[in-house]
Amino acid sequence: MRIPGLIDVHVHVREPGDSYKEDWDTCTQSALAGGITGILAMPNTNPPITNRSSFELSIQLARQKARCDFAQYVGAGNKDSKDLSKFADLAAGMKMYLDQTFGPLRLDNMLQWAMYLQTWPKNMPLAVHAEGKNLAAVLLLAHLNDRPVHICHVSRREEILIIRAAKEKGIKVTCEVTPHHLFLTKKDIPSLGEGRSEVRPRLAEPSDQEALWENIQVIDCFATDHAPHLLTEKESEKPPPGFPGLETALPLLLTAVHERRLTIDDVILRYFTNPKRIFHIQDQPETWAEIDLNKKYEIYSKETFTKCGWTPFDGWNVTGMIKKVVLRGKVVYNDRKILAERGFGKNFRNKKS
Ligand code: NCD
Ligand code: ZN
Repeated sequence: MRIPGLIDVHVHVREPGDSYKEDWDTCTQSALAGGITGILAMPNTNPPITNRSSFELSIQLARQKARCDFAQYVGAGNKDSKDLSKFADLAAGMKMYLDQTFGPLRLDNMLQWAMYLQTWPKNMPLAVHAEGKNLAAVLLLAHLNDRPVHICHVSRREEILIIRAAKEKGIKVTCEVTPHHLFLTKKDIPSLGEGRSEVRPRLAEPSDQEALWENIQVIDCFATDHAPHLLTEKESEKPPPGFPGLETALPLLLTAVHERRLTIDDVILRYFTNPKRIFHIQDQPETWAEIDLNKKYEIYSKETFTKCGWTPFDGWNVTGMIKKVVLRGKVVYNDRKILAERGFGKNFRNKKS
């Protein structure tokens, strides 16, 4: 069957700076192989995207190399803060890091959070990494400023329950959940290995995972948080947190459809309709993915397009395969081959295109 090309609102492209892990070319190949025709790129690159010049640098690289459509987030940094709002309409949105993760971006001071919540335009997306009590705090601050916030990678029972309660009170909050938090828990750490299992938010308890499934109606978006690091890094003394995810997300979700834990409409709503609405993404005409809902296969790390060359789902049996992807009328992926050229991808925020 045909489904719309998916939009992934949480992707770490790694370029500029860490192109040995991934770059705009390999990341967008990985997206297309996963049925994803648009990605929103996170700002924790090197340099981080916290000012106009680093933003332009990333957009320039994307323009040359991206094979699917894209937009670039700006990151709320400790410096350069006022500048960001001036080119807000060119960005995917703003990302605020309120908890520790990979890269230098992190805001500790609540007055600083408040400043960003006030100055970033209310009609532009604001995505926040906020776990546990930080989530409660930022929900209140956003509400006091009467502005919408999007909560990234919700992973725990207490978090999905507070978001549910906030929505019931009419607070303007949306959220995303990753496939790895839906399909993995702490119980998988021994078989994955400690280093490979490192991810933020951490893999949670089975009861947290159950709460996500029980509250699937509260989840607005599925998003990968595709965060590639090399295996040598994952297995080093200080393993960086993060999993690649672009190529495995849809097959895992389709497997849940096969098992009747989700419907295909649940997937389309959370991986196309809602991301487009929340992040103001225009239509991609003549764009779709052909999927075989009954095709069974085994995920092999060796067959992936991501430069990092591994996946936490290696050896998993899935039901549901992406056969072909068409983006703006062009066949960009067919029978395990990428057919889009470098530079074919368009910037969602480029008003001319
Ligand atoms: C991300 C990364 O590696 O950039 N890591 C992760 O574990 N998710 C950062 C992030 O999204 O927090
Ligand atoms: Zn992330």
